[in-house]
Amino acid sequence: MQETTGFDGKTVLVTGGSSGVGREIALRAADRGAAVVNADLRREPRAGEVPTDELIEDRGGTAAYVETDVTDLEAVRAAVDRAVELTGGIDVVVNNAGRAESYALTETTPENWSAALSVNLTGVYHGCLAGVERMTAEDTGGAIVNVASVFGVVGAPNSCSYSAAKGGVVAMTRQIARDYAGEGIRVNAVSPGFIDTPMLRRDTHDGTIQYSMEAAPMGRVGEPREVADAVLFLASDGASFVTGQNLVVDGGYRTS
Ligand code: NAI
Repeated sequence: MQETTGFDGKTVLVTGGSSGVGREIALRAADRGAAVVNADLRREPRAGEVPTDELIEDRGGTAAYVETDVTDLEAVRAAVDRAVELTGGIDVVVNNAGRAESYALTETTPENWSAALSVNLTGVYHGCLAGVERMTAEDTGGAIVNVASVFGVVGAPNSCSYSAAKGGVVAMTRQIARDYAGEGIRVNAVSPGFIDTPMLRRDTHDGTIQYSMEAAPMGRVGEPREVADAVLFLASDGASFVTGQNLVVDGGYRTS
């Protein structure tokens, strides 16, 4: 039987691949044979481990780190160029970089609204654009996976701008998928629930972890690998007839 979930010979660009979910996506893609480019603001993982690209190379894989701010389109294009330089092409873009923003409407200011949208929504637009530009120029097709959030599909406390951005990612994913399906480019989203990463542990209000365990029918938070596997399924040839979808990975939170 033909292997459909491997990434041998493929090049995967992951934004925000230094920490948490993005790091796990990068490591697991490399384990399955991909060359990986990590485009992140910082190389050092937030949890203080070995940098993602170094770990992949230590394990015998191919990887690079490109200092990238996803709010800067030219920087994202440069990261795509680096991926092409590394292996001659780009097959997958995972737009994962994001930042938690916890404000109710009345705490939201024009400044923190813009900051939240520029990373969590505009950053994804930049990654989609840079990826599609290259995939269409080379006429290779490809796959894009955008990491949104369950907060983009359900109401959630204190997350006005973050939820708006993530909901925008889900809508934009569907839209881009329609326009580029004919060019062999699949575009999907994954919406995680609460996942045990530096973001959940450090950037959320006290009590969020307790709340998240009580709110999810499974009674626990998710592990980064559980999101990474969903992302890599959508990025793989195993999902060759899947586009424009939003896969919610939340331990059942959305059902409650
Ligand atoms: P994290 O904070 O552990 O990792 C995020 C990474 O993104 C960091 O390495 C950071 O340096 C990078 N980053 C932040 N801003 C950037 C920018 N402007 N340009 C380039 N890189 C940037 O966070 P985590 O939890 O791994 O989050 C990954 C994605 O999953 C985010 O989009 C987040 O919104 C989403 N998510 C996370 C959930 C959770 O409970 N941890 C729940 C739902 C969604």
